[in-house]
Amino acid sequence: MDLETFAPGSGGLAPRAALRSDAPSLDLNGTWRFRLSPTAAVPDDFAQPDHDDSGWAELPVPSHWPLHGHGSPAYTNVVYPFPVDPPHVPTENPTGDYRRVFDLPDGWSGGRLRFDGVESFARVWLNGHELGWSTGSRLPVEFDAGPFLRPGRNVLAVRVHQWSAASYLEDQDMWWLPGIFRDVTLTRSAADVFVHAGHDGRRATLSFDGPGLLDLPELGVAGLEPGVEVTVAAEPWTAETPRLYQAVVTLPGETVRLAVGFRTVSIAGGVLLVNGRPLLLKGVNRHEFHPERGRAVTYETMREDVLLMKRHNVNAVRTSHYPPHPAFLDLCDELGLWVIDECDFETHGFGQVGWRGNPTDDPRWADALLDRMRRTVERDKNHPSVIMWSLGNEAGVGRNLAVMAGWTRDRDPSRPIHYEGDWSCEHADVYSRMYASHAEVEAIGRGVEDPLDDPALDARRRAMPFLQCEYAHAMGNGPGGLAEYQELFERYPRLAGGFVWEWIDHGLAHPRHGYAYGGDYGEPVHDSNFVVDGLVFPDRTPSPGLLDLKKAFEPVGFAFGDGVVTVTDKHGFAGLAHLTFTAVVEDEGLTVAEFPLRVPAEGGEVKLTGLAELPGGGGERWLTVRAVLADDQPWAPAGHEIAWAQTPLPPATGLDGEGGGAAPGAEGGTTVSPEIGPDVGAAGSTAEAWAGVSRAGDLVVLGGAAFDLATGRLVRLFGHDVEGPRLDLWRAPTDNDRYGGLEADWRRLGLHRLTHRIDAVETGGGGLTVRTRVAPAATDLGLRAVYRWTATDGGGLRLAVEIEPEGDWPAPVPRVGLAMALPGGVERVTWFGRGPGEAYPDTGTATRVGRWSATVDDLQTPYVYPQENGHRADVRWAEFTGAGRAFRVVGEPVFGLTARRWSTAELDAATHRPDLVPGDRVHLHLDLAHQGIGTAACGPGALPAYELRVRPTTFTLRFTPS
Ligand code: GAL
Repeated sequence: MDLETFAPGSGGLAPRAALRSDAPSLDLNGTWRFRLSPTAAVPDDFAQPDHDDSGWAELPVPSHWPLHGHGSPAYTNVVYPFPVDPPHVPTENPTGDYRRVFDLPDGWSGGRLRFDGVESFARVWLNGHELGWSTGSRLPVEFDAGPFLRPGRNVLAVRVHQWSAASYLEDQDMWWLPGIFRDVTLTRSAADVFVHAGHDGRRATLSFDGPGLLDLPELGVAGLEPGVEVTVAAEPWTAETPRLYQAVVTLPGETVRLAVGFRTVSIAGGVLLVNGRPLLLKGVNRHEFHPERGRAVTYETMREDVLLMKRHNVNAVRTSHYPPHPAFLDLCDELGLWVIDECDFETHGFGQVGWRGNPTDDPRWADALLDRMRRTVERDKNHPSVIMWSLGNEAGVGRNLAVMAGWTRDRDPSRPIHYEGDWSCEHADVYSRMYASHAEVEAIGRGVEDPLDDPALDARRRAMPFLQCEYAHAMGNGPGGLAEYQELFERYPRLAGGFVWEWIDHGLAHPRHGYAYGGDYGEPVHDSNFVVDGLVFPDRTPSPGLLDLKKAFEPVGFAFGDGVVTVTDKHGFAGLAHLTFTAVVEDEGLTVAEFPLRVPAEGGEVKLTGLAELPGGGGERWLTVRAVLADDQPWAPAGHEIAWAQTPLPPATGLDGEGGGAAPGAEGGTTVSPEIGPDVGAAGSTAEAWAGVSRAGDLVVLGGAAFDLATGRLVRLFGHDVEGPRLDLWRAPTDNDRYGGLEADWRRLGLHRLTHRIDAVETGGGGLTVRTRVAPAATDLGLRAVYRWTATDGGGLRLAVEIEPEGDWPAPVPRVGLAMALPGGVERVTWFGRGPGEAYPDTGTATRVGRWSATVDDLQTPYVYPQENGHRADVRWAEFTGAGRAFRVVGEPVFGLTARRWSTAELDAATHRPDLVPGDRVHLHLDLAHQGIGTAACGPGALPAYELRVRPTTFTLRFTPS
């Protein structure tokens, strides 16, 4: 049975380039008739033109049938969702029959039926005649329709099986989504052209293969014959300067138009070069994905991806792990992105069985693998954006790689070959790895990596440029460590950069769960939320990780010195002429001056004068410099920020401010706030006065606050009912905490169930002292925590928490901080510190010191899988408002801030966004420190510098009414 053969297909025409032709074509997308059967054993009489399909459903093409109510999606990462027994497939094999009636325009004759993508096995009939069958889901196939076309009414029938032998070659980490998910066209174009357009930095050359004559009027090229190379005065194409020239090739019967970009990729001295200059890839891995449409993405979605990438300083894409919709590469040519175009090939699941039977090393699969590579290269060979071919992903090692690489080198010697799955690089031209640690990347950068056993292969690999085809796994909160990777990539010429894993969260829109991931459709075998690991959320809202990536990828560097800022051009090709530079001075987050910076086109030192004389409120002052687009670009408007940096300034001269701790508007006054008076009075008319402290019934009153006498806990604060601050070590584990194993350590220690023993509640010395021991059950580890409360001027309070660990703490802890609860009426937080977004020790480089304001709701980062999020770092002060009241928390000097309408326990228990239901309290965390984020979900954990270990410490805050 064809479904279970090693052959790639039958009846398909030789693959050719995706071209814009003036030959007539008929768009066969639209509404088709559709019927789903549970197995492949269904009669195929539906292919007959007169078959009655009136009882069938309707289905849009392109689409995936499980996203239109027929069956359900299923997610696995590495494992096959069926037994590993190639080339056999399960009997339960969802089979979709499609029918489409179309009218042939008058005078039409001949043509090809082109399918740009069908997952995974398609058999095609035209007017009852079988044209052939095809596999290779993300690759085009064309059938000769000519002999079977009729004037007027024609009936196209397609049978699509979800599973076939080819499914063993398509084990990419993504949803299994069968269907005709890319365009279907009847075209009379048959042209194939291969344009060669090189540039060595000075000289451009042009030639092409194929029939016909080539004109490129803008460069004075007319009637160029195939195989003849001419030198032209063309500007180079680069992703930073995507200069395209329109060429026309006139062939018998049709004319094709190509956007030609002149560029040459080469490797010299272990360095990856384009047009003779070093190339640094600042890349992302992109799967095609839309939360409602799956991989059936529209042109608008593709364009949105490219625009978002460009706006976030991304300059490269790896099309993980298959060739994208052809229009995506047109967009990369037009707007400028370097592309590694990857073949539709992965056999990762064979790793589960010790790679036994891996198709990569089984000659019976050689034709199928070569067929995939040919269809990739032939389709995409004319794109200047494509600078490397990738043989596939995670397909192990084996002799078929030699077949694929050999053919590719022959067909297109102009592009290096990439393949990560074989670390010996026997068939590749670049050394590529995924998730290598910073230390290993550095060793490779210095050329001192561990040798391969085979000296010849080792010598060959040592001469190769290195790239990380995947790094910085962007799952959930994170990734941490981006800046450190970038620093290495920029330091060592051998390092050609890398591609963050991955662009988008593949959360599917779901009526109950918000966004669904593996298991939400009842799949018996699945990999849970590992499919949700992108830099943008499913709706393409940038996550904090993308903002950090933008910062790491900035093509302009700033270094502050004494009265100067040195500006460095880190573009490969574009220079700085398209940018303007501005500076702003802020005093406690309020602008006091804004002025342009005159930066030479090649960068250099710029003097900063007169800053000390600027007026100010006496607060903490910062200088921020920015590089923005001078003019509109096709991908962003003038003024779009490309890069920035900040430096603290000395306080304004002549003014004597209190600095970050100042609480404007705070009044001097009494130790008991007017607001608390009536409550206290009601609670205890027998108020007993202590020194600086008073007692009212079961309460201790100090400053504008009241405490429970028995527990020492704060219960009222400036008129708010609160649950006072207590030491907290727990956070809802991030994906990195979870998959990296820290969560398991923490739960073993019991950090999520700390107990608080009250050892003493003491008054005296004008304050309240609460002595506690904080510890989980079943262990002798613990922390002595002493809370010292004192009154401050203006009715405020100071809290100093002294922490003293006991026992031998074996692992880092999630956080050290204070947790308290405020009334739900608290709505908004205004703070001076880093913002506007979240930041953890090794993330949040995109945040800057300023004055920010957000509602409690907007402080949340809506990770698809709920987890720790929303922490604002280095907060000097924060003001909480709502229900007509306001108060401040002031750091001595800073604290971390998190506020949410659910508790950590609720966040921890939630598995989907809708599980988080606002309660009647605002849960406030005032943190001293957090454990770093890292990327341990896949890759290294937080670097040692970002690990949080318990140690003796004191954490001080002030609470003031405002
Ligand atoms: C890589 C793989 C990707 C993805 C990632 C984890 O090994 O190539 O496709 O699975 O791990 O998210």
